Parts: sequence; C-alpha cells; structure tokens
Amino acid sequence: MKSVAFAGLLTALFGAQAVLATAEWGQCDGIGYGSHPCDAGLTCVYVNDYYSQCQKSTGATTTTSRPGGTTTTTTSVTTTTGGSSPNTNSLNTKYKAKGKQYWGTCGDQGTLSQSQCAQVVKDDFGALTPENSLKWDATCVVFLYMVSYVPLLMQPGVHWVSSIGDKNTLTTVIQNHATTLVTRYKGKIAKWDVVNEMFNEDGSVRSSVFSNVLGTTFVDIAFNAARAADGSAKLYINDYNLDSVNSKVNGLVNLVNQKKSAGVPIDGIGSQAHLSAGQTGGFLAALQKLASTSVTEVAVTELDIVNAASNDYLAISNACLQVPKCVGITSWGVSDKDSWRASSNPLLFNGSFQPKPAYTALINSL
Ligand SMILES: *[C@@H]1O[C@H](CO)[C@@H](O)[C@H](O)[C@H]1NC(C)=O
Repeated sequence: MKSVAFAGLLTALFGAQAVLATAEWGQCDGIGYGSHPCDAGLTCVYVNDYYSQCQKSTGATTTTSRPGGTTTTTTSVTTTTGGSSPNTNSLNTKYKAKGKQYWGTCGDQGTLSQSQCAQVVKDDFGALTPENSLKWDATCVVFLYMVSYVPLLMQPGVHWVSSIGDKNTLTTVIQNHATTLVTRYKGKIAKWDVVNEMFNEDGSVRSSVFSNVLGTTFVDIAFNAARAADGSAKLYINDYNLDSVNSKVNGLVNLVNQKKSAGVPIDGIGSQAHLSAGQTGGFLAALQKLASTSVTEVAVTELDIVNAASNDYLAISNACLQVPKCVGITSWGVSDKDSWRASSNPLLFNGSFQPKPAYTALINSL
C-alpha cells in the first residue's frame, strides 16, 4: 500500500511539473489545486471540494458530493448526520473518551465511493488517511506519505528522480515536493508522514536515491521544508516492523534522537503495525521505546492483524492507551474485502461491512 501511495503522490507533483495530462486515479480538480485535464478515455470525477479524480469513463460512477452525509463540524469526519449506529458508541468516540485524538482508517475513491463503506467511516472512524492518493477535506486528521525510497521512484513518471546524482538538484527536488504538497493542503491536513520506510530491518538506512546522494540529510531537508510550509501540521517519520524492540526500532530511535538534537522538526513517530496473529506481545514495549525519544507524539498508523483475533486487537488498543504520547490508531481499511491483505481478513469489518468479534471486543473494552 505504501508504494502505491507514494507513487500517486510523486506523480501528482512531478506530473504537474511535466505538464502531462493526469493518469487514471490522479487528481484532476480541487480547491487550491485547480483544474487539470485527464488522459484520453478518463473522466474527472468529483469526490469532494478538495479532490476530484481521473477515472475510466464507464458512466457507472456516480458523482455525488461528500459520500453519504453532511459534515457539520471542523474537527472530525465522525460528526456527521445519519448513520446506522449511534456515533456516541463509535470506536472513535470511545477511544477519544479515553483521552486519545482519534481511531481512524484509510480510504480512497475505490472504497469511499461504496456507500456502505462511507457510512462505516462516518459512523466509526474519526480520521482518514489517503490510501492511494492525495486528498481529503479540511476536517480530517490525515497521514500522508511524502518521501519515498528507491523502488517507489521507479514508478512510471518518476524515473528522472532516481537518476539524480547531484546533491543540490536532489535537495531542490525534495524541497519543491514538500513545499508544494504541504502548502497545497495547509490547514487541511493535520499530520504528514514526511519520511516513510527509510530503514532496513537491521536498523541501517535503506539504500535509495535520497540516502545515496544526501546521506541522512534528506531527512533534515524534507522535515524543514514541510515545517516551513505548514507550521501547525504534525510531521512524522513512519515505518513498519516496529512491533517489538528490535534493531529497526533501535535504528529509528537513534536517528530521531540525533536529528531532534540537531533541531530537525520531527514531531512524531508512526508505527504501521501490519501484524501477524499472535505478534502483538512486544508492541507495548516497542511503542514505549519510540515514545522515549523527544518527539511529542507517536501513533499506530496502518493497523491490520492477520485473522483479526480480538486479543491481538485489544493488545494494540491497550498499548496506545498505556503510552501517553500515543495520539491514536489508524486501521488500514474498513472491510476485509478491500484490504491489501484481503485473504487474511485482518480488519474490523467483514466483507459485508458487518462488525467482527474484534470490533465488538474493542467497543466493550473502551
Ligand atoms: C458478515 O457478518 C454477517 C453477520 O455475522 C454475516 O451475516 C455475513 O454473512 C458476513 N459477510 C461476510 C462476507 O462474511
């Protein structure tokens, strides 16, 4: 999922620079973005005031306004009218009542355009992370992938980035990328994933065009540019396999400590938490270790757990509750059928958008 997110994001920026028509699933309109033509055979489909997307011209897509309802406040997508379950009992509401900022999910046109999915998002979740593209409205807490590693730069349209060998050029490219995107969504996106998946499993820095040309100073460049573009958004470093205290956790913690003491504006650490069944025992200790740095917040950013056992979900929920700096949890999708790991049924709602035992267990625990 990460690679697709990056690809969409990088394409959005670099595509604009190259003045190309917009490819399928790319953004074609929105407040602060402007109107851009789609490739031949694609139609610009309205999603919300801030985001329209190029889709195949089948005529089957309905172009409604915000999926399913009317948003009434500026703090959360959960405060909408209607819905099949009372919002006071939602996962998000109950998690917030325990002192957290949100329980969110990820979504995109392909999922949010399903009315059942949109309804569950509004009923149960309080934050939205774009799964495959850059979007969403002013009311959401949103994590957004921003800086990629080399395989992602091999996606069509961004080959030229991976071939940059000059420090100054690459610095400018990163600064332009960060500045353009964060400025475009200033005040509308609460949290950005500025640097994603920069570590190998042994805690060393992954080889990429960024690290190969700039060492770890690409981290400084990206965070500083993002901070300059929006002084209020929380800026995150994010990675996977941070599920127990391991070499990767230690490598990340060391880098964050080093960069923080050098004044790099890293606000938070995200732990993706794509977990196997029974793999949750070390999660609390790892989250505590991440929170032991001088970041102001940590978060669980892409939670899914193979077969979604209740005790595994409770372990992650409780871990975040026990770590004061943990601001919230994002489930990586709503329904199992739309999960990137669909065959392992890792989410809280089944293929018919009905809550699963883990969902009920979470609600009962909160
Ligand atoms: C979802 O759960 C409901 C209620 O338990 C059940 O009736 C339905 O068949 C399930 N759907 C799928 C696709 O598993």
